[in-house]
Amino acid sequence: MPYSQIVGLGHYVPENTITNHDLEKLMDTSDAWIQERTGIQERRFFTPGKDTVTSMATQASRVAIERAGLQPTDIEFIIFATITSDYYFPGCGVLLQRELNLPGIGALDIKNQCSGFIYALSVADQFIKAGTYKNVLVVGSEIQSTFLDLSTKGRNVAVIFGDGAGAAVLQATNTPEHSILSTHLHADGRFAEELAVKDPGGSRPGRWLTHDMIDDGGTDVVMNGQKVFKEAVIRFPEVIKEALDANGYTTEALDLLVPHQANLRITNYVGEQLQLPAHKIVSNIQKYGNTTAASVPIALSEAWENGRIQSGNLVCLAAFGSGFTWASALIRW
Ligand SMILES: CC(C)(COP(=O)(O)OP(=O)(O)OC[C@H]1O[C@@H](n2cnc3c(N)ncnc32)[C@H](O)[C@@H]1OP(=O)(O)O)[C@@H](O)C(=O)NCCC(=O)NCCS
Repeated sequence: MPYSQIVGLGHYVPENTITNHDLEKLMDTSDAWIQERTGIQERRFFTPGKDTVTSMATQASRVAIERAGLQPTDIEFIIFATITSDYYFPGCGVLLQRELNLPGIGALDIKNQCSGFIYALSVADQFIKAGTYKNVLVVGSEIQSTFLDLSTKGRNVAVIFGDGAGAAVLQATNTPEHSILSTHLHADGRFAEELAVKDPGGSRPGRWLTHDMIDDGGTDVVMNGQKVFKEAVIRFPEVIKEALDANGYTTEALDLLVPHQANLRITNYVGEQLQLPAHKIVSNIQKYGNTTAASVPIALSEAWENGRIQSGNLVCLAAFGSGFTWASALIRW
């Protein structure tokens, strides 16, 4: 049976850096409040006319494909995770396929919020294990700055999120020693409205996008921050332990944890719970904020670039987010 190996990683972040001090000029907030509650110092916002969700994904993908020693034409299937696709439909999968000039290959879109990349990785892993494909491109890309309310009214959400993209190439291998060991996917839809954008919703009466919808706040991000926080600090350790248990490892065996960058306080709490030293945890939320589906692949790609992932390392990816959804992947690099 084939196994899947991550053979290339890449990421792209827009050049436009927005510091906490920049946000202070737009809303009643402070650099001290944002850093203390979230750890974030700055984030990137896309440049209109230059960056799109697809263009950022394309840049990240080209880097990942090149680092894999492949050509775009070697890619047999695309899985694209995003909640902010360039069009309402079609999804970004086909747009990325067009940019990479790969007509005919399948392109799947995944909308699982902050867990989206790990869900996508899991689907790719199953296709490879089934022998369907040998090279699969998995991408997470988001432009979230456009749906943020940058006034004081939206400050609890607006200070958290940013834009960016990350990509990975998965390849079939016969060596289980260097492969994705397992993936674990969970959801609990009872909490769907705790972090959501409800409109434009297909089952809304009347036309699907109206000014009323915007005026009523239906297109705003609704977030019960404290509920999200409380659930996240339970689900992260749980799903990481689930991955370790499934493969007969304890936390001491873990070389690197790459968590979704939701909030530095959440990450630190998870580290304490698992008794993981800081040097075994990747945190780049300080620079990029929360980039939802792009967060895990950006963090993974940066960690790899910085030499923090070596052959033979045991690496765990973990995410939690809107849905609620949560997920993990254990990888022997
Ligand atoms: C959003 C979050 C940072 C808010 O922190 P908190 O400690 O829960 O803060 P609260 O919501 O209780 O608000 C405390 C006060 O700060 C204020 N506040 C909220 N956002 C603020 C901001 N950006 N700047 C300044 N003050 C702010 C609130 O209005 C409130 O004021 P009050 O006490 O006068 O009513 C925190 O709940 C969080 O990180 N939750 C998880 C969110 C997350 O990870 N989302 C993504 C999931 S993948």
